[in-house]
Amino acid sequence: MNTLSLGIMELLGVSLGVGREYFRDFFEGNDSIMRLNYYPPCQKPDLTLGTGPHCDPTSLTILHQDHVGGLQVFVDEKWHSISPDPEAFVVNIGDTFTALSNGIFKSCLHRAVVNNVTVRKSLAFFLCPKLDKVVKPPNTLIDSKNPRVYPDFTWPTLSEFTQKHYRADMKTLDVFTTWLQQKNN
Ligand code: OGA
Ligand code: NI
Repeated sequence: MNTLSLGIMELLGVSLGVGREYFRDFFEGNDSIMRLNYYPPCQKPDLTLGTGPHCDPTSLTILHQDHVGGLQVFVDEKWHSISPDPEAFVVNIGDTFTALSNGIFKSCLHRAVVNNVTVRKSLAFFLCPKLDKVVKPPNTLIDSKNPRVYPDFTWPTLSEFTQKHYRADMKTLDVFTTWLQQKNN
């Protein structure tokens, strides 16, 4: 997963014009997280969600779903189901990469629904920076037309924010920014 995520970081670096090495180097020695999600069947699936709407606060998510569907992404004001394919990964951007790209790559709003028939399992790898790495975009992505959108922070500060102060949703990064600015003033 480390090799795959660093390979994807090379592609993101090329697409942002900062070169192959920039984000690969940034995530060298990363402190990533793996999580197994288990969604039991629910008698009233319309009344609940497996995971409520959120953007992952981490940098990049590589998700494996089993053969049971459940993942949905919010695009063009609608929820779209992502067909499960046990032979494929779903890759999405997290809030920390949104900050690293100065807002160019948007983290993806998603949720998981449940069903009344089958257990569903998913396996998620969350790429996270090494704990002392300062999350700030490269200078080439900042100019007078594109000023800094988010303040400097380290991953443990955002992680703690989402565990102790705020349940991750679609506004995590904006609320975190305000919280951090108040804390530092
Ligand atoms: C997550 C998540 C979705 C899924 O773990 O952050 O969004 O399909 N999981 O299990
Ligand atoms: Ni998620």
